[in-house]
Amino acid sequence: MRHLMNPLDFTTQELEKLFDLASQIEANPQKFRHVCDGKKLATCFYEPSTRTRLSFESAMYNLGGNVLGFSDAASSSASKGESVSDTIRMISCYADICAIRHPKEGAPMVASSKAGIPVINAGDGGHQHPTQTLTDLLTIRSLKGRLQDFTIGLCGDLKFGRTVHSLINALIRYPNIHFIFISPEELKIPDYIREDVLDKNHIPYQEFIRLEDCMQDLDLLYMTRVQKERFFNEQEYIRLKDFYILDKEKMKLAKKDMLILHPLPRVNEISIEVDEDPRAVYFKQVQYGVYVRMALIMTLLELV
Ligand code: NCD
Repeated sequence: MRHLMNPLDFTTQELEKLFDLASQIEANPQKFRHVCDGKKLATCFYEPSTRTRLSFESAMYNLGGNVLGFSDAASSSASKGESVSDTIRMISCYADICAIRHPKEGAPMVASSKAGIPVINAGDGGHQHPTQTLTDLLTIRSLKGRLQDFTIGLCGDLKFGRTVHSLINALIRYPNIHFIFISPEELKIPDYIREDVLDKNHIPYQEFIRLEDCMQDLDLLYMTRVQKERFFNEQEYIRLKDFYILDKEKMKLAKKDMLILHPLPRVNEISIEVDEDPRAVYFKQVQYGVYVRMALIMTLLELV
């Protein structure tokens, strides 16, 4: 039985197969309408989410399956003191596959060790968000036609943003990727990513504070929001939350074919006037998220 905890749980060859399947689904969704007939997905969300949870649910319904679960810890037995290990043992009797989001780093991993069904990490604290990374990679592959040879700027909250941490981990496996990290001093990438991921693998990167100083070099710009819920100090959040605002003026500095990605939710970091720019692909990215989760559910349930 296979779980997905980290994007690196799949080799790059396995990811190619997964993305090929997602592209087949995109081309002909009708063909996959009954693949999961009679199967159930449990979504166990101990932390708020709209996109990820609904994306999983939509993916399962598109495959003909059913969905059950809870959308915040208060409405689950966690509020009575039940452990994640016990909850997942119980869920294993109710569902065929489970997606779990938890504010504590490592909680989905604990769940997977006790589960009788495949478990998908749908985000654990500031740590990893592998299905967002699969979404990001599929978006890049589909719209740029490749997963190598580009310069990617990651901008915003690089300290707490788990989507950023997951994406860096996944991208270092592809040739000739140049990273540019754009953040205020206080929100730089954590030391463990710097040392254990980048330096250890001799991956070159540059760091900037101002977007304007590197915009012209980027093939992709991955914007992120400042992660309010992970701040200890509200004043600090308020001071940093509008540090970056991508607007039409700044977009004039970018390459004609630079793509803007964002895991969403967007707060103020991308002005809505940018939405009509053809380079803004963050809403297309949401659609790719459904295709890739469909492909993932099929793969983990061994229905491929
Ligand atoms: C992200 C997350 O939950 O980490 N959202 C998502 O799943 N698309 C990004 C965020 O919350 O900023």
